[in-house]
Amino acid sequence: MHKQVAPPPGQNPGEDLHRSAKSGDWRIYLRLLGYVRPYWFIFFMSIFGYIIYSSCNVLLASVMQFILDAIGESSEVRSGLVSGAVYSLFSKDSGMTDQEFARISVPIVMIFLAAMRGTGFFVGGYFINHVATSVVHNLRCQLFDKLLDAPSAYYDQHTGGSLISKITYNVEQVTGAVTKALKIIMREGFSVIMLFSYMLYVNWQLCLVFIAVSPFIAFVVAVMGKHFRRYSRRIQSSMGDVTQVSNESIGGYREVRLFGGREQESTKFENASEYYRAQSMKLTFADSISTPIIQSFIAIALAALVWFSLSPDIMENFTAGQFAAFLTAAGQLGKPIRQLSGVQSIIQRGLAAAEDLFYHLDLDSEPDAGEHVTERAQGTIEFKAVEFRYIPDSAPVLEDVSFTVEAGKTVALVGKSGSGKSTLVNLLARFYPLSGGAIELDGVPIESYRLDNLRQQIAQVSQVVGLFNETLYNNIAYGGLAGASEESVLAAATSANALDFIQQLPEGLQTRLGDDGGGLSGGQKQRIAIARAVLKNAPILVLDEATSALDNESEHRIQQALEVIMRNRTTIVIAHRLSTVENADRIVVMDAGRVVDQGTHAQLLARGGLYAQLYHQNFEL
Ligand SMILES: Nc1ncnc2c1ncn2[C@@H]1O[C@H](COP(=O)(O)OP(=O)(O)O)[C@@H](O)[C@H]1O
Ligand SMILES: [Mg+2]
Repeated sequence: MHKQVAPPPGQNPGEDLHRSAKSGDWRIYLRLLGYVRPYWFIFFMSIFGYIIYSSCNVLLASVMQFILDAIGESSEVRSGLVSGAVYSLFSKDSGMTDQEFARISVPIVMIFLAAMRGTGFFVGGYFINHVATSVVHNLRCQLFDKLLDAPSAYYDQHTGGSLISKITYNVEQVTGAVTKALKIIMREGFSVIMLFSYMLYVNWQLCLVFIAVSPFIAFVVAVMGKHFRRYSRRIQSSMGDVTQVSNESIGGYREVRLFGGREQESTKFENASEYYRAQSMKLTFADSISTPIIQSFIAIALAALVWFSLSPDIMENFTAGQFAAFLTAAGQLGKPIRQLSGVQSIIQRGLAAAEDLFYHLDLDSEPDAGEHVTERAQGTIEFKAVEFRYIPDSAPVLEDVSFTVEAGKTVALVGKSGSGKSTLVNLLARFYPLSGGAIELDGVPIESYRLDNLRQQIAQVSQVVGLFNETLYNNIAYGGLAGASEESVLAAATSANALDFIQQLPEGLQTRLGDDGGGLSGGQKQRIAIARAVLKNAPILVLDEATSALDNESEHRIQQALEVIMRNRTTIVIAHRLSTVENADRIVVMDAGRVVDQGTHAQLLARGGLYAQLYHQNFEL
């Protein structure tokens, strides 16, 4: 149905930029290795396990020699790796023939080696998984912490879906690389080394055959590697799209139904998922084609090996047992080499994911260079020729905004929607850096404050209320307020006129809210947010259309409570209803990012400007 596999819309084209540098492979490996460092002991346990495992593989090949040389009554029977050891340990003058001795000792040795091999396999696999899961856990937590510290602009640039998919999917891909790949590399890598060393030991000339095909294998591995990486990156970002579309449709399921968006969403999702599938198939194709090619090279090498080894010259110096052991070892080489070449795609997926994770981990956190700390600010706020653009070089959203809010006073911001009111108060809490001018709190520029200290001074209720999947109690006494006494939480809820509806809930304050305050009405959510701000008891109160979702009566009641709270603190209130504005000490009128007028209600009305116009429209902004 969807044959086109162009990247679906919504994919950020800029995302590919940072991934083009190919040189950094080793840097990524080394950096990943840095995460392994704290677990070095466990890591070495694992290596130790795999060395035992692969050594046993070789020794089992040597057992072949023991059996055959014993049967053939070869004089070389005591010179094999295993047979030599066993003879020197036990036989001496038992009076047994070589065959009789082999009959007893070979089964014992086989069982012993198998047990050792199994132990090595377990130790290697168990401990490497311990390391890998720890690395992934650490990476995931680091990425999440990074999100917690990321500047607001970061959230503007990335969709929620793509960020979630990084924490879940991309990190998981790194697990794949770290766990599976390391496991295979160590287990099979040691096997190859051991087997090859053994073959060199038995007959080095014959090994040249294998060395001759190795460049071909390396070539295939290198060519495929590039493709693997490209597809892995696309798979990753399309996973972000899949998550994004699902998120949107889940969050907005009512809109989807009410506005007939079903087909649209379904197609969008199908496209994103199809793109993911197509890229996965390309990866699978590259993966599946490289294995048989490499296998063919190995088969050719083995065939050549047999041809050479059956030549009279070579046969002369070989016992039957050595010959069998050599071929057994050579035959055993196929599986590890195949597995090692297959590990490519896993590693490339992991590297592509790690590259992306590291890119995000390396982004700057919110700037927090200030050192000024205040126990409790007086609350004088001065905006001085503030200029701001969300995107550098775009048109300014705020320009030359200057006014002062004296400590303990209330300033109302009034202006049409989009005039920059919310932006201005968000600048105060340093959600974005200023593009020009300054904002000072008690005469100190806000950038000079330690970020957490500055935010401690501000209790803000925003247009959009963020609630957590927690009890109401924990939603009000959130973060730095955790542990507040029940009385204080109840008092805050009372001020916010929230007590009535809280008490009607089955478990009162202990009622657990769903996803984003699910089950509460818009007005109820706002009242929880107001209660939270009241409980914070900060010297500065910012109310950004905090009562917009309330009916007149609730608003009126909250208004009275808020007036008590506002009395002793600096308040900036953005309100769309008259009552709040009228009583403010000063009203600042904004239009298109500029302050166009300021004064008291009476002064502004008398002047007959924008304020009077808005007033006569009943503030229906
Ligand atoms: N995160 C953002 N990225 C880019 N532009 C934004 C962002 N938020 C708001 N804007 C723009 O900034 C302007 C002011 O918005 P805002 O401060 O929300 O106005 P108000 O609160 O007065 O309605 C608007 O033109 C809006 O489109
Ligand atoms: Mg706003």
